[in-house]
Amino acid sequence: MADNYLEKKYEEIFGASASRRKVVKHANPTLDSLLLRNRSHRGFSQGCVVEMQQLEKIISVNTRVPSARNQQVLRFLPLTASTGADKVLGHIALGGALPELHLPAEGEEPHAFIVVCTAVQETRFVDIDLGISLQSMSLKAVEMGLNCVTICAFDKAAIKAAFSLDVEPLAILAVGKGTDNIQLLSIHDSDDRKYYRKDGVHYVPKLSLDDLVIRR
Ligand SMILES: Cc1cc2nc3c(=O)[nH]c(=O)nc-3n(C[C@H](O)[C@H](O)[C@H](O)COP(=O)(O)O)c2cc1C
Repeated sequence: MADNYLEKKYEEIFGASASRRKVVKHANPTLDSLLLRNRSHRGFSQGCVVEMQQLEKIISVNTRVPSARNQQVLRFLPLTASTGADKVLGHIALGGALPELHLPAEGEEPHAFIVVCTAVQETRFVDIDLGISLQSMSLKAVEMGLNCVTICAFDKAAIKAAFSLDVEPLAILAVGKGTDNIQLLSIHDSDDRKYYRKDGVHYVPKLSLDDLVIRR
């Protein structure tokens, strides 16, 4: 297919000016653009059904990430709507800083998850591996046009029992097409870091570079 085939097709149907307005190319997204889009969504479109193949593609990043002592002790349980994902919903807590919203809102629940487990006892190194894995998988999901939220506030015993796991669940990644309108806010060390919502926008304060760098 020619490089600009879709663009030409679009022009044919909607006219040249529409094509100029609408065709957005995400051929090689930069790390910065993926990081910006990689926000924690707590509302998900019910029209987008995440398939098992997509979850496995997301999990596949773990064949390429670093691991302390290269032990690779993490294991991943992908769950779609047709393979028991809805058994997760009652055992997770979303948006702890916004308890009055009781997230996820009705009709915006996630219906696909990756339960990240450890095959050995949890240690500092296992947790570092966990962070690398979660962030890498989230970035992959964003690259694929999906969104995630990492969930550590969940009932481990209930999840273990629900899926007869013989490994320890450490975190759950909810995956779907996010519907939240999220904006980052630059803040300083003395400012409040709590995320909040105003006029339909979910604001996430982030420390500025000057507040992060230790300059000597
Ligand atoms: C280790 C970890 C655990 C988290 N656990 C939860 C959780 O249980 N529930 C939730 O709603 N969000 C959870 N989050 C999402 C954070 O609240 C979110 O990253 C933070 O508000 C900043 O938003 P951002 O991800 O869009 O930058 C978790 C994030 C991380 C990194």
